[in-house]
Amino acid sequence: MTQIQMLYTKPEVGDSIETVDTPALVIDLDVVDRNIEAMFANFKDKSVTIRPHLKTAKSPVFAKKLIELGATGICVAKLSEAEVMAQNGVGDILITTEIIGKAKMEKLFDLLRDHPAVRLVVDSKAGVDMLAAAAKAFQHKEQIMVLIETNVGQNRAGLEHPKDVVKLAKHIQDQNSLHFIGVQGYEGHVQLLRDESERKTKSKESMDKLGKIVSELKAAGIHVPVVTTGGTGTSPWCAENDFVTEVQPGSFIFMDTAYRNAGQKFELALHLVATVISKPDAKRAVIDSGYKSLSTDSGMPEVANIANLTYEPGGDEHGILKSASGGEVALEIGDRVTITPSHIDTTINLHDYYYCHRQGKIEAIVPIANRGKVQ
Ligand SMILES: Cc1ncc(COP(=O)(O)O)c(C=O)c1O
Repeated sequence: MTQIQMLYTKPEVGDSIETVDTPALVIDLDVVDRNIEAMFANFKDKSVTIRPHLKTAKSPVFAKKLIELGATGICVAKLSEAEVMAQNGVGDILITTEIIGKAKMEKLFDLLRDHPAVRLVVDSKAGVDMLAAAAKAFQHKEQIMVLIETNVGQNRAGLEHPKDVVKLAKHIQDQNSLHFIGVQGYEGHVQLLRDESERKTKSKESMDKLGKIVSELKAAGIHVPVVTTGGTGTSPWCAENDFVTEVQPGSFIFMDTAYRNAGQKFELALHLVATVISKPDAKRAVIDSGYKSLSTDSGMPEVANIANLTYEPGGDEHGILKSASGGEVALEIGDRVTITPSHIDTTINLHDYYYCHRQGKIEAIVPIANRGKVQ
């Protein structure tokens, strides 16, 4: 197949952010810096380490920035994300989703050969046996660091009952190729609860479950050096528990309306810039951004730079802006509109680049290297 080379010349570093073609993801780096500082400040006097989740930012550039500022390492959700991070010099990675299947094993052991600090989660005997068999088949030399994923209320993956966790931990310890290092207990079901006291109560319920699991492991004589948990909506509370050693928030770095609506005080650092391409009547402006540039799984994105306008998708490539009060829309063809995504993880995954600026001047054009890395 013919390879198509993308020749990318405009805009350049130093240009005004206004020169960026649309739709484009634009990031205010001053706001990113403030968000990182605000999140990390929560743990200054705590013994927990911070391992931010890069499933959100999807870029080794931001992974390295977080590590420079004090993160011990990073989390990613998928093996293919870990591959890109490792290729770009980030080796201390926790992959927070179970890795299963023959095709995955081959890639995983390729990665582990050069990057032995990659950590994995398992939640089944089948998963452990698959890893141990692959370690043998690929003649892997070093022990692989493994955590058990626990279910602390999200009812996604993970083992719920402490006795099952102990049984699986012992099974891991029985494998020469594996090294049990702890548990992951992410409480994803509470992160976006809007009522802070409800979020706090539910987060505590999850931490109590996690604490019981850790106690049961210790009572069985099993060393548990790592207990990792927490997202943007709960990490500071998680860190109040003595048994928690690590937090893994992700969305705080850029934020979105879902987290803002849940009362998070981090600032909105990322926006989509769009252009009005059609105005068929006075009450409707059509922009160049639909489902392929803005996700809607967490509700409608919001128009940020003009008051009283609503956004709705008008198909894959189009978005429709209307006045919330039903009146005329004060936009002309060619006008640029700034939109705040409702869910950054799924929106970022639709784009190739971040256009990063400070005070309107482009400082970096960062490839979203993990875009589409879903395997
Ligand atoms: C296992 C795990 N940890 C941490 C996070 C980060 O959470 P947040 O984006 O809420 O900060 C996620 C997000 O989905 C996750 O799946």
